[in-house]
Amino acid sequence: MCIKFPQFVFYIFAFSFQSYVNAKKNVLLIVADDGGFESQVYGNPVCKTPNIDQLASKSTIFKNAFTSVSSCSPSRSSFLTGLPQHQNGMYGLHQDIHHFNSFDQVKSLPNLLRQNKIYTGIIGKKHVGPENVYPFNFAYTEETDSINQVGRNITKIKELVNKFFSTLNNSQPFFLYVAFHDPHRCGHTNPEYGEFCEKFGNGEEGMGVIPDWKPEHYKPEDVIVPYFIPDTPAARRDIAAQYTTLSRLDQGIGLILKELNKFNHENDTLVLYTSDNGIPFPNGRTNLYDSGIAEPFLMHLPQQTYSQVSETMVSLLDIVPTILEWFNIEYPDFKLNGMAVKLTGKSLLQFVSIKGNEVVFASHNLHEITMYYPIRAIRTNNYKLIHNLNFKMPFPIDQDFFISPTFQDLLNRTVEKRETHWYKNLSDYYYRSEWELFDLSQDPYELHNVATNSSYSSILVILQNMLMEWQIKTNDPWICSPSGVLENKGKFKEKPTCLPLFNGI
Ligand SMILES: *[C@@H]1O[C@H](CO)[C@@H](O)[C@H](O)[C@H]1NC(C)=O
Ligand SMILES: *[C@@H]1O[C@H](CO)[C@@H](O)[C@H](O)[C@H]1NC(C)=O
Ligand SMILES: *[C@@H]1O[C@H](CO)[C@@H](O)[C@H](O)[C@H]1NC(C)=O
Ligand SMILES: *[C@@H]1O[C@H](CO)[C@@H](O)[C@H](O)[C@H]1NC(C)=O
Ligand SMILES: *[C@@H]1O[C@H](CO)[C@@H](O)[C@H](O)[C@H]1NC(C)=O
Ligand SMILES: *[C@@H]1O[C@H](CO)[C@@H](O)[C@H](O)[C@H]1NC(C)=O
Repeated sequence: MCIKFPQFVFYIFAFSFQSYVNAKKNVLLIVADDGGFESQVYGNPVCKTPNIDQLASKSTIFKNAFTSVSSCSPSRSSFLTGLPQHQNGMYGLHQDIHHFNSFDQVKSLPNLLRQNKIYTGIIGKKHVGPENVYPFNFAYTEETDSINQVGRNITKIKELVNKFFSTLNNSQPFFLYVAFHDPHRCGHTNPEYGEFCEKFGNGEEGMGVIPDWKPEHYKPEDVIVPYFIPDTPAARRDIAAQYTTLSRLDQGIGLILKELNKFNHENDTLVLYTSDNGIPFPNGRTNLYDSGIAEPFLMHLPQQTYSQVSETMVSLLDIVPTILEWFNIEYPDFKLNGMAVKLTGKSLLQFVSIKGNEVVFASHNLHEITMYYPIRAIRTNNYKLIHNLNFKMPFPIDQDFFISPTFQDLLNRTVEKRETHWYKNLSDYYYRSEWELFDLSQDPYELHNVATNSSYSSILVILQNMLMEWQIKTNDPWICSPSGVLENKGKFKEKPTCLPLFNGI
Protein backbone atom coordinates (compact mmCIF):
# COMPACT_ATOMS: atom_id res chain seq x y z
CA MET A 1 0.00 0.00 0.00
CA CYS A 2 1.25 3.46 -0.80
CA ILE A 3 0.52 6.14 1.78
CA LYS A 4 1.23 9.81 1.27
CA PHE A 5 2.16 11.79 4.34
CA PRO A 6 2.19 15.57 4.32
CA GLN A 7 5.79 16.45 5.15
CA PHE A 8 8.91 14.85 3.80
CA VAL A 9 12.01 15.80 5.70
CA PHE A 10 15.07 13.96 4.54
CA TYR A 11 17.14 12.85 7.43
CA ILE A 12 20.55 11.51 6.61
CA PHE A 13 22.90 10.02 9.12
CA ALA A 14 26.19 11.81 8.83
CA PHE A 15 28.07 9.12 10.66
CA SER A 16 28.99 6.23 8.44
CA PHE A 17 29.49 2.74 9.66
CA GLN A 18 31.09 1.76 6.37
CA SER A 19 34.59 2.44 7.67
CA TYR A 20 34.13 -0.31 10.28
CA VAL A 21 33.00 -3.04 7.98
CA ASN A 22 36.34 -4.78 8.13
CA ALA A 23 37.32 -3.84 11.65
CA LYS A 24 36.84 -6.02 14.72
CA LYS A 25 33.29 -5.81 15.89
CA ASN A 26 31.50 -6.42 19.17
CA VAL A 27 28.19 -5.44 20.73
CA LEU A 28 27.31 -4.28 24.22
CA LEU A 29 23.55 -4.08 24.80
CA ILE A 30 22.51 -2.39 28.05
CA VAL A 31 18.86 -2.60 29.05
CA ALA A 32 17.10 -0.90 31.94
CA ASP A 33 14.15 -2.63 33.62
CA ASP A 34 11.08 -0.35 33.45
CA GLY A 35 13.36 2.66 32.86
CA GLY A 36 12.02 5.78 31.21
CA PHE A 37 13.14 9.28 30.36
CA GLU A 38 14.62 10.15 33.76
CA SER A 39 17.87 11.55 32.37
CA GLN A 40 19.17 14.92 31.24
CA VAL A 41 19.58 13.75 27.68
CA TYR A 42 15.85 13.09 27.56
CA GLY A 43 14.93 16.38 29.15
CA ASN A 44 14.84 15.61 32.86
CA PRO A 45 17.26 17.94 34.68
CA VAL A 46 16.51 16.55 38.16
CA CYS A 47 17.42 12.85 38.07
CA LYS A 48 21.22 12.64 38.01
CA THR A 49 22.48 10.42 35.19
CA PRO A 50 25.97 11.66 34.25
CA ASN A 51 27.01 8.31 32.76
CA ILE A 52 23.97 7.93 30.50
CA ASP A 53 24.48 11.54 29.43
CA GLN A 54 28.17 10.91 28.76
CA LEU A 55 27.27 7.92 26.57
CA ALA A 56 24.62 10.06 24.83
CA SER A 57 27.24 12.72 24.08
CA LYS A 58 28.81 10.27 21.60
CA SER A 59 25.68 8.49 20.40
CA THR A 60 22.70 8.81 18.15
CA ILE A 61 19.91 9.87 20.49
CA PHE A 62 16.65 8.43 19.21
CA LYS A 63 13.78 10.66 20.30
CA ASN A 64 11.07 8.42 18.88
CA ALA A 65 11.93 4.86 19.88
CA PHE A 66 9.18 2.42 20.83
CA THR A 67 9.01 -1.05 22.27
CA SER A 68 6.62 -3.40 20.47
CA VAL A 69 5.09 -4.51 23.78
CA SER A 70 5.03 -2.95 27.22
CA SER A 71 5.70 -6.00 29.35
CA CYS A 72 8.97 -7.48 30.53
CA SER A 73 9.30 -11.03 29.11
CA PRO A 74 7.31 -10.31 25.93
CA SER A 75 9.49 -7.25 25.26
CA ARG A 76 12.77 -9.05 25.93
CA SER A 77 11.72 -11.98 23.73
CA SER A 78 10.76 -9.50 21.00
CA PHE A 79 13.99 -7.52 20.97
CA LEU A 80 16.07 -10.71 21.21
CA THR A 81 14.23 -12.37 18.30
CA GLY A 82 13.02 -9.44 16.18
CA LEU A 83 9.55 -11.02 16.25
CA PRO A 84 6.52 -9.58 18.08
CA GLN A 85 5.21 -11.54 21.06
CA HIS A 86 2.26 -13.00 19.14
CA GLN A 87 4.75 -14.50 16.66
CA ASN A 88 7.55 -15.69 18.96
CA GLY A 89 5.12 -17.19 21.48
CA MET A 90 6.12 -15.28 24.64
CA TYR A 91 2.57 -14.07 25.23
CA GLY A 92 3.17 -13.00 28.83
CA LEU A 93 5.64 -13.19 31.71
CA HIS A 94 8.07 -16.09 31.89
CA GLN A 95 8.54 -16.62 35.63
CA ASP A 96 6.61 -18.68 38.18
CA ILE A 97 2.94 -19.27 37.59
CA HIS A 98 2.86 -17.17 34.40
CA HIS A 99 5.08 -19.70 32.62
CA PHE A 100 5.29 -18.30 29.10
CA ASN A 101 8.01 -19.36 26.64
CA SER A 102 8.91 -18.72 23.02
CA PHE A 103 8.38 -21.46 20.45
CA ASP A 104 11.27 -23.95 20.32
CA GLN A 105 11.96 -23.20 16.63
CA VAL A 106 12.42 -19.45 17.13
CA LYS A 107 15.85 -18.11 16.10
CA SER A 108 17.12 -15.62 18.65
CA LEU A 109 20.07 -13.28 18.67
CA PRO A 110 22.12 -15.38 21.15
CA ASN A 111 21.38 -18.44 19.05
CA LEU A 112 22.33 -16.91 15.70
CA LEU A 113 25.42 -15.19 17.11
CA ARG A 114 26.69 -18.34 18.83
CA GLN A 115 26.35 -20.27 15.59
CA ASN A 116 28.58 -17.62 14.03
CA LYS A 117 31.28 -18.07 16.69
CA ILE A 118 30.47 -14.91 18.57
CA TYR A 119 30.94 -15.22 22.31
CA THR A 120 27.64 -14.35 23.98
CA GLY A 121 27.11 -13.22 27.54
CA ILE A 122 24.18 -12.17 29.72
CA ILE A 123 24.46 -10.51 33.11
CA GLY A 124 21.28 -9.68 35.02
CA LYS A 125 17.65 -10.32 34.24
CA LYS A 126 17.02 -13.00 31.62
CA HIS A 127 13.28 -13.57 32.06
CA VAL A 128 12.86 -15.44 28.78
CA GLY A 129 12.86 -19.10 27.79
CA PRO A 130 13.16 -21.85 26.83
CA GLU A 131 16.90 -22.27 27.34
CA ASN A 132 17.47 -23.77 23.88
CA VAL A 133 16.06 -20.61 22.26
CA TYR A 134 18.07 -18.21 24.43
CA PRO A 135 21.42 -19.90 25.12
CA PHE A 136 24.34 -17.72 26.25
CA ASN A 137 27.95 -18.89 26.62
CA PHE A 138 28.37 -16.82 29.77
CA ALA A 139 25.31 -16.38 31.99
CA TYR A 140 24.79 -14.88 35.44
CA THR A 141 21.07 -14.32 35.79
CA GLU A 142 18.14 -14.94 38.13
CA GLU A 143 18.51 -18.59 37.09
CA THR A 144 21.97 -18.80 38.72
CA ASP A 145 22.03 -15.99 41.32
CA SER A 146 19.80 -13.65 43.28
CA ILE A 147 18.27 -11.13 40.89
CA ASN A 148 19.16 -8.22 43.18
CA GLN A 149 22.84 -9.27 43.10
CA VAL A 150 23.15 -9.68 39.32
CA GLY A 151 20.63 -6.98 38.47
CA ARG A 152 21.03 -4.21 41.08
CA ASN A 153 24.37 -4.68 42.89
CA ILE A 154 26.53 -2.61 40.57
CA THR A 155 29.76 -3.79 42.21
CA LYS A 156 28.80 -7.40 41.55
CA ILE A 157 27.78 -6.48 37.98
CA LYS A 158 31.14 -4.74 37.45
CA GLU A 159 32.95 -7.89 38.70
CA LEU A 160 30.92 -10.08 36.32
CA VAL A 161 31.62 -7.82 33.36
CA ASN A 162 35.30 -8.04 34.26
CA LYS A 163 35.02 -11.82 34.41
CA PHE A 164 33.32 -11.90 31.01
CA PHE A 165 36.15 -9.95 29.40
CA SER A 166 38.78 -11.99 31.26
CA THR A 167 37.41 -15.30 29.96
CA LEU A 168 37.02 -13.94 26.44
CA ASN A 169 39.64 -14.85 23.87
CA ASN A 170 41.04 -11.66 22.52
CA SER A 171 40.37 -12.52 18.93
CA GLN A 172 36.80 -13.67 19.48
CA PRO A 173 34.01 -11.16 18.80
CA PHE A 174 31.45 -10.80 21.58
CA PHE A 175 27.86 -9.89 22.30
CA LEU A 176 27.39 -8.84 25.92
CA TYR A 177 23.86 -8.15 27.16
CA VAL A 178 23.75 -6.41 30.54
CA ALA A 179 20.15 -6.50 31.71
CA PHE A 180 19.79 -4.42 34.87
CA HIS A 181 16.92 -5.08 37.26
CA ASP A 182 17.09 -1.39 38.24
CA PRO A 183 14.93 0.70 38.27
CA HIS A 184 12.15 -1.91 38.60
CA ARG A 185 9.77 -1.69 41.57
CA CYS A 186 10.32 -4.04 44.48
CA GLY A 187 7.64 -3.04 47.01
CA HIS A 188 5.76 -6.17 45.97
CA THR A 189 8.64 -8.63 46.61
CA ASN A 190 11.17 -6.86 48.89
CA PRO A 191 9.37 -4.02 50.69
CA GLU A 192 12.18 -3.91 53.26
CA TYR A 193 14.39 -2.23 50.62
CA GLY A 194 11.81 0.43 49.69
CA GLU A 195 9.35 0.73 46.81
CA PHE A 196 12.11 0.67 44.14
CA CYS A 197 14.80 -1.17 46.14
CA GLU A 198 16.30 2.29 46.51
CA LYS A 199 17.73 1.34 49.92
CA PHE A 200 19.29 -1.94 48.83
CA GLY A 201 23.03 -1.65 49.48
CA ASN A 202 22.92 1.96 50.67
CA GLY A 203 24.92 1.20 53.84
CA GLU A 204 22.08 1.84 56.30
CA GLU A 205 21.42 -0.77 58.97
CA GLY A 206 20.32 -4.06 57.41
CA MET A 207 20.62 -2.77 53.84
CA GLY A 208 24.15 -4.01 53.11
CA VAL A 209 26.72 -2.10 51.10
CA ILE A 210 27.31 -1.75 47.37
CA PRO A 211 30.87 -0.41 47.52
CA ASP A 212 30.78 1.35 44.13
CA TRP A 213 27.46 3.09 44.68
CA LYS A 214 27.13 6.68 45.89
CA PRO A 215 23.38 6.95 46.52
CA GLU A 216 21.68 10.07 45.23
CA HIS A 217 18.66 11.26 47.17
CA TYR A 218 15.79 13.31 45.82
CA LYS A 219 13.12 15.41 47.47
CA PRO A 220 9.54 14.61 46.44
CA GLU A 221 8.91 18.31 45.84
CA ASP A 222 11.76 18.43 43.31
CA VAL A 223 10.76 15.54 41.02
CA ILE A 224 9.17 16.06 37.62
CA VAL A 225 5.77 14.36 37.44
CA PRO A 226 5.09 13.08 33.91
CA TYR A 227 1.74 14.10 32.43
CA PHE A 228 0.26 10.61 32.86
CA ILE A 229 0.93 10.33 36.62
CA PRO A 230 -1.30 12.00 39.24
CA ASP A 231 0.55 14.89 40.87
CA THR A 232 0.07 13.80 44.47
CA PRO A 233 2.42 13.52 47.47
CA ALA A 234 2.22 9.70 47.21
CA ALA A 235 3.24 9.67 43.55
CA ARG A 236 6.02 12.19 44.16
CA ARG A 237 7.51 10.02 46.91
CA ASP A 238 7.31 7.05 44.53
CA ILE A 239 9.10 8.98 41.77
CA ALA A 240 11.81 10.20 44.18
CA ALA A 241 12.54 6.56 45.07
CA GLN A 242 12.54 5.61 41.37
CA TYR A 243 15.13 8.36 40.69
CA THR A 244 17.47 7.02 43.42
CA THR A 245 17.36 3.59 41.80
CA LEU A 246 17.81 5.05 38.32
CA SER A 247 20.90 6.88 39.54
CA ARG A 248 22.27 3.52 40.74
CA LEU A 249 21.65 2.10 37.26
CA ASP A 250 23.44 5.11 35.82
CA GLN A 251 26.49 4.55 38.00
CA GLY A 252 26.41 0.88 36.99
CA ILE A 253 26.53 1.90 33.33
CA GLY A 254 29.60 4.02 34.12
CA LEU A 255 31.32 0.99 35.68
CA ILE A 256 30.53 -1.25 32.70
CA LEU A 257 31.84 1.27 30.18
CA LYS A 258 35.01 1.61 32.25
CA GLU A 259 35.54 -2.17 32.08
CA LEU A 260 34.97 -2.04 28.33
CA ASN A 261 37.74 0.54 28.02
CA LYS A 262 40.02 -1.31 30.42
CA PHE A 263 39.89 -4.32 28.11
CA ASN A 264 40.60 -2.08 25.08
CA HIS A 265 37.19 -2.48 23.49
CA GLU A 266 36.29 1.21 23.32
CA ASN A 267 36.96 1.39 19.58
CA ASP A 268 35.43 -1.86 18.37
CA THR A 269 32.12 -2.11 20.19
CA LEU A 270 28.66 -1.00 19.19
CA VAL A 271 26.94 0.16 22.39
CA LEU A 272 23.15 0.26 22.65
CA TYR A 273 21.14 1.50 25.62
CA THR A 274 17.38 1.15 25.99
CA SER A 275 14.66 -0.12 28.32
CA ASP A 276 12.21 -2.99 28.00
CA ASN A 277 8.94 -1.16 28.57
CA GLY A 278 7.19 1.88 30.04
CA ILE A 279 7.57 3.00 33.65
CA PRO A 280 5.42 1.21 36.28
CA PHE A 281 2.86 3.95 36.77
CA PRO A 282 -0.74 4.44 35.62
CA ASN A 283 -1.00 4.50 31.81
CA GLY A 284 2.62 3.28 31.63
CA ARG A 285 3.78 -0.35 31.62
CA THR A 286 1.25 -2.84 30.13
CA ASN A 287 -0.31 -0.07 27.98
CA LEU A 288 0.25 0.66 24.30
CA TYR A 289 -0.24 4.40 24.77
CA ASP A 290 3.00 6.32 24.19
CA SER A 291 3.50 6.48 27.97
CA GLY A 292 3.76 2.67 27.87
CA ILE A 293 5.84 2.12 24.74
CA ALA A 294 8.13 5.14 24.23
CA GLU A 295 11.69 4.23 25.27
CA PRO A 296 15.06 5.88 25.63
CA PHE A 297 17.38 4.56 22.91
CA LEU A 298 21.05 5.44 22.42
CA MET A 299 23.32 3.97 19.77
CA HIS A 300 27.07 4.58 20.01
CA LEU A 301 29.23 3.52 17.09
CA PRO A 302 32.92 2.89 17.81
CA GLN A 303 35.00 6.07 17.60
CA GLN A 304 31.87 8.18 17.39
CA THR A 305 32.84 11.32 19.28
CA TYR A 306 29.73 13.44 18.92
CA SER A 307 26.01 13.12 19.46
CA GLN A 308 23.23 13.49 16.93
CA VAL A 309 19.53 13.56 17.52
CA SER A 310 17.28 11.40 15.40
CA GLU A 311 13.55 12.10 15.24
CA THR A 312 13.04 9.00 13.11
CA MET A 313 10.63 6.49 14.58
CA VAL A 314 12.40 3.28 15.47
CA SER A 315 11.28 0.08 17.16
CA LEU A 316 13.04 -2.27 19.53
CA LEU A 317 12.21 -4.84 16.82
CA ASP A 318 15.00 -3.07 14.88
CA ILE A 319 17.66 -4.31 17.33
CA VAL A 320 17.98 -7.78 15.74
CA PRO A 321 18.39 -6.49 12.15
CA THR A 322 20.87 -3.88 13.42
CA ILE A 323 23.07 -6.37 15.29
CA LEU A 324 22.90 -8.93 12.48
CA GLU A 325 24.04 -6.32 9.97
CA TRP A 326 26.77 -5.22 12.37
CA PHE A 327 28.15 -8.77 12.44
CA ASN A 328 27.35 -9.30 8.77
CA ILE A 329 25.08 -12.27 9.50
CA GLU A 330 22.09 -13.14 7.35
CA TYR A 331 18.79 -13.93 8.97
CA PRO A 332 18.10 -17.59 8.13
CA ASP A 333 15.17 -18.94 6.13
CA PHE A 334 12.88 -20.96 8.34
CA LYS A 335 9.24 -21.60 9.06
CA LEU A 336 7.37 -21.09 12.29
CA ASN A 337 3.92 -22.57 12.74
CA GLY A 338 3.76 -23.28 9.04
CA MET A 339 4.71 -19.85 7.83
CA ALA A 340 8.03 -18.45 6.51
CA VAL A 341 9.46 -15.99 9.03
CA LYS A 342 10.52 -12.53 7.85
CA LEU A 343 11.79 -9.82 10.15
CA THR A 344 9.66 -6.68 9.95
CA GLY A 345 12.25 -4.39 11.62
CA LYS A 346 15.05 -2.47 9.90
CA SER A 347 18.75 -2.10 10.59
CA LEU A 348 19.57 1.24 12.17
CA LEU A 349 23.12 1.30 10.83
CA GLN A 350 23.86 3.68 8.04
CA PHE A 351 20.22 4.20 7.23
CA VAL A 352 18.69 7.03 5.33
CA SER A 353 15.14 7.51 6.31
CA ILE A 354 12.32 9.76 5.30
CA LYS A 355 10.87 11.40 8.34
CA GLY A 356 7.12 11.28 8.28
CA ASN A 357 6.92 7.99 6.46
CA GLU A 358 7.90 5.44 9.08
CA VAL A 359 5.55 3.34 11.15
CA VAL A 360 6.02 1.19 14.22
CA PHE A 361 3.75 -1.58 15.41
CA ALA A 362 2.89 -2.95 18.81
CA SER A 363 1.24 -6.11 20.08
CA HIS A 364 0.30 -7.11 23.62
CA ASN A 365 -1.55 -10.17 24.94
CA LEU A 366 -0.85 -10.60 28.64
CA HIS A 367 1.45 -9.46 31.39
CA GLU A 368 0.63 -11.70 34.36
CA ILE A 369 -1.32 -14.87 33.53
CA THR A 370 -4.58 -13.38 34.84
CA MET A 371 -4.15 -10.24 32.75
CA TYR A 372 -5.46 -11.31 29.35
CA TYR A 373 -6.02 -8.09 27.41
CA PRO A 374 -4.91 -8.45 23.78
CA ILE A 375 -4.14 -5.16 22.01
CA ARG A 376 -2.68 -4.36 18.60
CA ALA A 377 -1.45 -0.91 17.60
CA ILE A 378 0.16 1.07 14.82
CA ARG A 379 1.89 4.42 15.25
CA THR A 380 2.92 6.86 12.57
CA ASN A 381 4.44 10.29 13.19
CA ASN A 382 1.00 11.82 13.37
CA TYR A 383 -1.39 9.08 14.39
CA LYS A 384 -1.80 6.20 16.78
CA LEU A 385 -4.41 3.51 16.20
CA ILE A 386 -5.08 1.04 19.01
CA HIS A 387 -7.25 -2.05 18.62
CA ASN A 388 -8.47 -3.33 22.00
CA LEU A 389 -9.63 -6.84 21.19
CA ASN A 390 -11.19 -7.54 24.59
CA PHE A 391 -12.55 -4.06 25.08
CA LYS A 392 -15.68 -5.27 26.90
CA MET A 393 -13.57 -6.39 29.83
CA PRO A 394 -11.97 -4.01 32.35
CA PHE A 395 -8.28 -3.33 31.74
CA PRO A 396 -6.36 -5.57 34.17
CA ILE A 397 -3.89 -4.35 36.82
CA ASP A 398 -0.72 -6.21 37.83
CA GLN A 399 0.25 -7.18 41.35
CA ASP A 400 3.32 -4.99 41.88
CA PHE A 401 1.78 -1.89 40.36
CA PHE A 402 -1.51 -2.47 42.22
CA ILE A 403 0.22 -2.36 45.59
CA SER A 404 2.30 0.71 44.72
CA PRO A 405 1.69 3.92 46.71
CA THR A 406 0.75 5.77 43.51
CA PHE A 407 -2.03 3.35 42.56
CA GLN A 408 -3.27 2.79 46.12
CA ASP A 409 -3.55 6.54 46.52
CA LEU A 410 -5.42 6.80 43.21
CA LEU A 411 -7.84 4.06 44.30
CA ASN A 412 -8.39 5.70 47.69
CA ARG A 413 -9.00 9.11 46.18
CA THR A 414 -11.43 7.64 43.66
CA VAL A 415 -13.36 5.64 46.28
CA GLU A 416 -13.44 8.60 48.67
CA LYS A 417 -14.45 10.93 45.79
CA ARG A 418 -11.50 13.23 46.41
CA GLU A 419 -9.59 15.09 43.70
CA THR A 420 -7.30 12.55 42.00
CA HIS A 421 -4.99 15.06 40.25
CA TRP A 422 -4.95 12.62 37.37
CA TYR A 423 -5.62 13.43 33.71
CA LYS A 424 -7.96 10.43 33.35
CA ASN A 425 -10.39 8.71 35.66
CA LEU A 426 -10.41 5.04 36.59
CA SER A 427 -13.60 4.18 34.72
CA ASP A 428 -12.15 5.51 31.45
CA TYR A 429 -8.89 3.73 32.20
CA TYR A 430 -10.61 0.39 32.83
CA TYR A 431 -13.18 0.56 30.03
CA ARG A 432 -11.76 1.36 26.61
CA SER A 433 -13.27 1.53 23.15
CA GLU A 434 -12.55 -1.22 20.67
CA TRP A 435 -10.78 1.28 18.40
CA GLU A 436 -8.83 4.24 19.73
CA LEU A 437 -7.46 6.70 17.18
CA PHE A 438 -5.38 9.65 18.31
CA ASP A 439 -4.28 12.64 16.26
CA LEU A 440 -0.86 12.99 17.89
CA SER A 441 -0.09 16.39 16.42
CA GLN A 442 -3.18 17.82 18.16
CA ASP A 443 -3.36 15.40 21.05
CA PRO A 444 0.06 14.06 22.14
CA TYR A 445 -1.38 12.81 25.45
CA GLU A 446 -3.85 10.56 23.60
CA LEU A 447 -6.93 11.80 25.40
CA HIS A 448 -9.38 12.42 22.55
CA ASN A 449 -10.39 9.32 20.65
CA VAL A 450 -11.30 10.40 17.11
CA ALA A 451 -12.05 6.90 15.78
CA THR A 452 -15.73 7.80 15.30
CA ASN A 453 -15.10 11.34 14.02
CA SER A 454 -15.89 11.41 10.30
CA SER A 455 -13.02 13.85 9.64
CA TYR A 456 -10.71 10.93 10.35
CA SER A 457 -12.57 8.14 8.58
CA SER A 458 -10.08 7.81 5.71
CA ILE A 459 -6.99 7.74 7.96
CA LEU A 460 -8.79 5.23 10.20
CA VAL A 461 -9.28 2.85 7.28
CA ILE A 462 -5.70 3.30 6.05
CA LEU A 463 -4.27 2.52 9.48
CA GLN A 464 -6.63 -0.42 10.03
CA ASN A 465 -5.44 -1.90 6.75
CA MET A 466 -1.77 -1.34 7.55
CA LEU A 467 -2.22 -2.94 10.98
CA MET A 468 -4.04 -5.90 9.43
CA GLU A 469 -1.25 -6.31 6.86
CA TRP A 470 1.37 -6.44 9.61
CA GLN A 471 -0.71 -8.96 11.57
CA ILE A 472 -0.90 -11.17 8.49
CA LYS A 473 2.84 -10.81 7.79
CA THR A 474 3.66 -11.77 11.39
CA ASN A 475 1.21 -14.70 11.46
CA ASP A 476 -0.94 -13.24 14.25
CA PRO A 477 -3.31 -15.92 15.63
CA TRP A 478 -5.59 -13.08 16.84
CA ILE A 479 -6.17 -11.87 13.27
CA CYS A 480 -9.96 -12.40 13.36
CA SER A 481 -10.57 -11.22 16.90
CA PRO A 482 -12.95 -10.02 18.30
CA SER A 483 -15.67 -10.39 15.68
CA GLY A 484 -14.71 -13.70 14.10
CA VAL A 485 -12.93 -17.02 14.31
CA LEU A 486 -9.94 -17.96 12.21
CA GLU A 487 -10.30 -21.26 10.36
CA ASN A 488 -7.03 -22.35 8.75
CA LYS A 489 -7.04 -26.15 8.80
CA GLY A 490 -8.94 -28.88 6.97
CA LYS A 491 -10.82 -27.39 4.07
CA PHE A 492 -9.52 -23.91 5.01
CA LYS A 493 -5.88 -25.00 4.81
CA GLU A 494 -5.21 -23.29 1.49
CA LYS A 495 -7.33 -20.27 2.23
CA PRO A 496 -7.37 -19.23 5.92
CA THR A 497 -10.62 -17.39 6.57
CA CYS A 498 -12.20 -15.27 9.30
CA LEU A 499 -15.71 -16.57 9.88
CA PRO A 500 -18.18 -14.22 11.56
CA LEU A 501 -19.41 -14.83 15.12
CA PHE A 502 -22.43 -12.54 14.81
CA ASN A 503 -21.59 -11.20 18.25
CA GLY A 504 -22.53 -7.64 17.42
CA ILE A 505 -18.95 -6.36 17.06
C1 LIG B 1 39.69 -19.47 24.38
O1 LIG B 1 40.55 -20.32 23.67
C2 LIG B 1 41.04 -21.42 24.42
C3 LIG B 1 42.07 -22.15 23.59
O2 LIG B 1 41.57 -22.35 22.28
C4 LIG B 1 39.88 -22.30 24.84
O3 LIG B 1 40.34 -23.36 25.63
C5 LIG B 1 38.90 -21.47 25.65
O4 LIG B 1 37.75 -22.24 25.95
C6 LIG B 1 38.49 -20.25 24.86
N1 LIG B 1 37.68 -19.39 25.71
C7 LIG B 1 36.49 -18.94 25.35
C8 LIG B 1 35.81 -18.03 26.30
O5 LIG B 1 35.96 -19.24 24.31
C1 LIG C 1 27.47 -6.38 46.37
O1 LIG C 1 28.49 -7.14 45.79
C2 LIG C 1 29.72 -6.99 46.44
C3 LIG C 1 30.77 -7.70 45.62
O2 LIG C 1 30.35 -8.98 45.21
C4 LIG C 1 29.59 -7.51 47.86
O3 LIG C 1 30.81 -7.35 48.55
C5 LIG C 1 28.51 -6.73 48.57
O4 LIG C 1 28.28 -7.25 49.87
C6 LIG C 1 27.22 -6.79 47.79
N1 LIG C 1 26.24 -5.89 48.38
C7 LIG C 1 25.01 -6.27 48.74
C8 LIG C 1 24.11 -5.21 49.27
O5 LIG C 1 24.59 -7.40 48.59
C1 LIG D 1 40.67 4.39 20.51
O1 LIG D 1 40.69 5.51 19.65
C2 LIG D 1 41.21 6.68 20.26
C3 LIG D 1 41.05 7.83 19.28
O2 LIG D 1 41.42 7.43 18.00
C4 LIG D 1 42.66 6.42 20.65
O3 LIG D 1 43.17 7.56 21.32
C5 LIG D 1 42.74 5.23 21.58
O4 LIG D 1 44.07 4.90 21.89
C6 LIG D 1 42.05 4.02 20.96
N1 LIG D 1 42.01 2.92 21.92
C7 LIG D 1 42.39 1.70 21.63
C8 LIG D 1 42.25 0.69 22.72
O5 LIG D 1 42.79 1.37 20.54
C1 LIG E 1 -5.61 3.74 51.14
O1 LIG E 1 -6.66 3.38 52.02
C2 LIG E 1 -6.35 2.27 52.84
C3 LIG E 1 -7.60 1.92 53.62
O2 LIG E 1 -8.14 3.06 54.23
C4 LIG E 1 -5.18 2.64 53.75
O3 LIG E 1 -4.83 1.52 54.54
C5 LIG E 1 -3.98 3.02 52.87
O4 LIG E 1 -2.93 3.48 53.70
C6 LIG E 1 -4.35 4.11 51.90
N1 LIG E 1 -3.25 4.24 51.00
C7 LIG E 1 -2.85 5.40 50.49
C8 LIG E 1 -1.65 5.35 49.60
O5 LIG E 1 -3.41 6.44 50.75
C1 LIG F 1 -14.66 9.95 33.53
O1 LIG F 1 -14.31 10.98 32.61
C2 LIG F 1 -15.15 11.04 31.47
C3 LIG F 1 -14.63 12.14 30.57
O2 LIG F 1 -13.42 11.75 30.03
C4 LIG F 1 -16.58 11.32 31.89
O3 LIG F 1 -17.42 11.28 30.76
C5 LIG F 1 -17.03 10.27 32.89
O4 LIG F 1 -18.30 10.61 33.39
C6 LIG F 1 -16.06 10.17 34.04
N1 LIG F 1 -16.46 9.07 34.88
C7 LIG F 1 -16.50 9.15 36.17
C8 LIG F 1 -16.95 7.93 36.92
O5 LIG F 1 -16.19 10.17 36.77
C1 LIG G 1 -13.76 15.99 14.45
O1 LIG G 1 -12.44 16.39 14.17
C2 LIG G 1 -12.33 17.69 13.66
C3 LIG G 1 -10.88 17.89 13.22
O2 LIG G 1 -9.98 17.70 14.30
C4 LIG G 1 -12.77 18.67 14.72
O3 LIG G 1 -12.70 19.99 14.21
C5 LIG G 1 -14.20 18.35 15.11
O4 LIG G 1 -14.59 19.18 16.18
C6 LIG G 1 -14.34 16.90 15.51
N1 LIG G 1 -15.74 16.57 15.69
C7 LIG G 1 -16.21 16.05 16.82
C8 LIG G 1 -17.69 15.73 16.83
O5 LIG G 1 -15.51 15.85 17.79
